[in-house]
Amino acid sequence: TLTPWTGAALAETFAVDEVTGKPVVIADVLQKAASLDRILVRGIDNNPTYLLVDDGKVSDFALRAVCTHMGCTPDWVAGDGKFECPCHGSQYNARGEVVEGPAPENLALVHVKIDDGKVILDDWNEADFRNGETDPWWI
Ligand code: FES
Repeated sequence: TLTPWTGAALAETFAVDEVTGKPVVIADVLQKAASLDRILVRGIDNNPTYLLVDDGKVSDFALRAVCTHMGCTPDWVAGDGKFECPCHGSQYNARGEVVEGPAPENLALVHVKIDDGKVILDDWNEADFRNGETDPWWI
C-alpha cells in the first residue's frame, strides 16, 4: 500500500540517484539489490544516505551515510555485512549501530516511505529504536 504524499513537512524529500540526480525508483532498487544490500542515494540536504534492502524489501528506515567520527561516508561491505569507514576504520553493523570506534555513535536514522514508486525520505525525530535512546544525538 502507498502512503499518501502530503507535502506537509519541509524535510520530506525524494531520494535521488547519486549519478543521475533523478528520483530513485523503487523497482530499480529492488531489481539491483541483493537480498541483503545497502544502496547509496542522495537524501535530505543532499546527505549521502543508505537505503536498506533486507529479504528483497526496502526497510522503512534508512541510514545517514555520514560517519559519526568525522563525517566520511562509510562503505557497505556486503561480504562482512558491515559498514566500514575508509577514513579511520570505524565499523557499523547492517542497521548502522557502531561496533568499532573511533566513531562514538550510531549512524543517524531517516524515515522512508514509498509514494508512486518513488522513495521519500523524512527526518527521524523520535527515539533510536536500536539502543532505546529517546533523545538521539542527531535531533
Ligand atoms: Fe569515520 Fe573517522 S571519519 S572513522
